Amino acid sequence: MNSQQPRHVEHQQTDKGYVPVYTTTVVAQPWADYTATDHDVWRQLYERQRALLVGRASDEFLVAQDAMGMTPDAIPKFDDLNEVLRAATGWELVGVEGLLPELTFFEHLANRRFPVTWWIRKPEQLDYLAEPDLFHDLFGHVPLLMNPVFADYMQAYGRGGVKAHGIGPEALVNLTRLYWYTVEFGLIQQNDGLRIYGSGIVSSKGESIYCLDSDAPNRIGFDLERIMRTRYRIDTYQKTYFVIDSFEQLMQATGPDFRPLYERLASQDSYAAGDVLDSDQVFHRGSGEGWSSDGDV
Ligand SMILES: [Fe+2]
Repeated sequence: MNSQQPRHVEHQQTDKGYVPVYTTTVVAQPWADYTATDHDVWRQLYERQRALLVGRASDEFLVAQDAMGMTPDAIPKFDDLNEVLRAATGWELVGVEGLLPELTFFEHLANRRFPVTWWIRKPEQLDYLAEPDLFHDLFGHVPLLMNPVFADYMQAYGRGGVKAHGIGPEALVNLTRLYWYTVEFGLIQQNDGLRIYGSGIVSSKGESIYCLDSDAPNRIGFDLERIMRTRYRIDTYQKTYFVIDSFEQLMQATGPDFRPLYERLASQDSYAAGDVLDSDQVFHRGSGEGWSSDGDV
């Protein structure tokens, strides 16, 4: 097998669009097979994002990324990062071919394993890729696993996912929104202003600027139940970002059993991605400029 080709197993049409499904086993990172072009894509993306993220990403993110020993020089070896990560928080990276089925993904997180896609995008895809690749997973997700509180939150999320999977599809929809609006697209309030911690943002040049600088999106205080009722966008920048005041706030929110919450939410309508409610703590009310009226999921 040519290890430069991720092994697609099948594709499935879902309510979130066309979703590729890959071989679901853990695979060794074929580090020796990365080409000079692959390393150069990593370098370009790394340098561009780090320059942009100083003053935009949360302090925790930047400190953690440096502490891991990630550099632009070459695609890091998972084995090297794992030595640092295991010592810091007991997490480890495992190589995968791409997106995993939900339950498999949750089980990895519940056991403090973070699946990282081993392949990296092509040079012509620097600005956008529809699915996670190595840059999104490694640059975006992995650094905060060095933070003890965030690391515990990710495990709690995985355990919650295993539970929700057993409860049913509606519970999973609610829980997935929490992941989307925190792990992927979360903002945090620091003493010196709003900062980014979501992986979907830090791995995107355009959204790293838009989420903080644009008047268009809402910026609203974190509220667990509100988030679980809120649809989101997978094809455009977010209409709403939710702002936490600390990672402890996230961890505390996941403390209680979500089952009564799922039961309550089952009888309630969801909110559109761009809605602002009277009960919201509004940091910024979006102008809505450029929003399309449909396409929430
Ligand atoms: Fe992600």
